Amino acid sequence: MLRTLCAGVAVVALLGLATAQDKKAATIKITVTESSFKDTIVKVDGVEIKGKDGIRVFTTPALEPGKEYKFAVEALIEPNNYTKISRPREVKLKAGDEVTLDLTTEDKKLDKIVVRWVPTPVDIVDKMAELAKIGKDDVVFDPGCGDAVMLIRPVKALGAKKGIGIDIDPKMVKIAQEKAKTEGVADKVVIKEGDVLNEKDMADLADSTVVLVYMGDDLGARMSPVLQKLLKPGARVVSHRFGLGDWKPDQTVKVKGVDGDEYTLHLWIVKDKAKK
Ligand SMILES: C[S@@+](CC[C@H](N)C(=O)[O-])C[C@H]1O[C@@H](n2cnc3c(N)ncnc32)[C@H](O)[C@@H]1O
Repeated sequence: MLRTLCAGVAVVALLGLATAQDKKAATIKITVTESSFKDTIVKVDGVEIKGKDGIRVFTTPALEPGKEYKFAVEALIEPNNYTKISRPREVKLKAGDEVTLDLTTEDKKLDKIVVRWVPTPVDIVDKMAELAKIGKDDVVFDPGCGDAVMLIRPVKALGAKKGIGIDIDPKMVKIAQEKAKTEGVADKVVIKEGDVLNEKDMADLADSTVVLVYMGDDLGARMSPVLQKLLKPGARVVSHRFGLGDWKPDQTVKVKGVDGDEYTLHLWIVKDKAKK
């Protein structure tokens, strides 16, 4: 009896040893673009992986042979002090694998871009409105509206028919809605929570005649196809400082602000699609 028990224990121990020996780690070699502003942060399953010169290497714990494992990898890139890009990917691997993952290129479906709130001065909003020739029949849209200065000002001071804004930050949406109320234009200025990278959140562009925007080059490039698709011919887009990817502006002007600074404004006029 004792002999059988000992033999059993030995077999289990041997099996355990064999399994432990078969278990193997895997590695993921991740390539990122380092930002000159701030090191790119790479996380695997939420834990930061340190490294330098655009390379991060993650070694998994010992994995069961033959079984597939999934790891969530994310690069957090700050190309400048107002833009944050999150680049998430899923990596599937097995014990012993050596996987490489290129996080230097964008995936339009997966990447998120958020720009922090920096308001446009009121006198510059007026110059943008002038460039867009805003009048009483215009519906003004601001993708990333912040406190809605680019909507409240055209409606209140220039008699624009309506203002529509979206912002990804619920706090900004609340601030903008309160401001529209305080300024007595809540019936004409509509603010919604939304992401400019989600075409559904941009649906109001179809009924807008003017877009005033201040969003950064990365978001501008990503937004550009949606603006061109949804806006009707004749609609005007005026951007404070930044471009819209490879959509070349019809006019670029430099204006002086009351603060003494020089501001660059770009104007695009949406062409008749058939004549393009
Ligand atoms: C530079 S501020 C401009 C605010 C306003 N348009 C102005 O010029 O005063 C950018 C705003 O866009 C919002 N934002 C950033 N990323 C966004 C995104 N992906 N979708 C919608 N809004 C976003 C921010 O919360 C911020 O309020």
